[in-house]
Amino acid sequence: MSTDFILSQLDGNVIIARLNRPDALNALNIPLMDQLINLMETWDTDPNVRCIVLTGSDKAFAAGADIKEMADASVVDMYERNNLQRWERIKRVRKPIIAAVSGFCLGGGCELAMHCDMIIASESAKFGQPEINLGVIPGAGGTQRLSKVVGKYRAMELILTGRFFDAQEAYRIGLVTRVLPVETYLQESIALAKQIAEKSPMATRFAKEAILRAFETGLSDGLDYERKMFYALFATEDQKEGMKAFVEKRKANYTGK
Ligand code: CAA
Repeated sequence: MSTDFILSQLDGNVIIARLNRPDALNALNIPLMDQLINLMETWDTDPNVRCIVLTGSDKAFAAGADIKEMADASVVDMYERNNLQRWERIKRVRKPIIAAVSGFCLGGGCELAMHCDMIIASESAKFGQPEINLGVIPGAGGTQRLSKVVGKYRAMELILTGRFFDAQEAYRIGLVTRVLPVETYLQESIALAKQIAEKSPMATRFAKEAILRAFETGLSDGLDYERKMFYALFATEDQKEGMKAFVEKRKANYTGK
């Protein structure tokens, strides 16, 4: 399934979604984001999809929100459009999303990558929250998510200077989990997604939900939540299959039931 701004293809149980606005380095205008969000929600309820890989081109994952679209906007325009609120719907996608990032990953592009559950970078990836250079601040979660990932002091430096940082620095500060050659980052991201897609879909979604809960709540509540999710999985056929397969020394075949 493809729309103008998003090209997508199902490979096994993995959706590979590509941002496709090459003339603007994949700047995230409202139509692109609407298409992406709607597709994400479709995939989230499609039982054939178990994991999503979100990528751009080798040159740009995304160079940010579309500056031209908002340059002349008033505060009332921005408030009425409320475009960034819609991004919350990506946060609610329950299936794992891997961002495969190459080239520019700036502003809203970096924030979109941080909506995902893992970020794999090519050696050419350039990250940054340069909004300060435009007289604004990150508006799609950058001040919150980057701070939680890299800590207060690094987030302050990166957001207040707006400087770009490369894939190795992103790896060192914990924003990306792997740095790979441009030739292989996408294939490796898809291979990782396929590995995840072989697990129990219920367990995968519960694990994602429980991990995200760690960023929203205190430790005791988070542990309580995790325990309840763990117990609830004993109502699934996949739990029976997974444990039976271990005892029988064979590979489990998970159906999502
Ligand atoms: N919005 C709209 N158009 C953009 C864009 C953006 N964020 N980024 C790039 N483009 C467009 C350029 O205007 C240009 O279009 P034209 O050919 O029609 O002029 C085209 O993409 C190619 O860009 P450049 O010619 O600038 O390419 P470059 O290689 O010289 O520079 C770049 C690349 C350093 C990424 C530079 O384009 C740039 O600085 N882009 C803006 C990055 C930015 O500030 N992002 C933050 C946006 S604000 C935001 O994201 C708010 C938020 O938190 C939600």
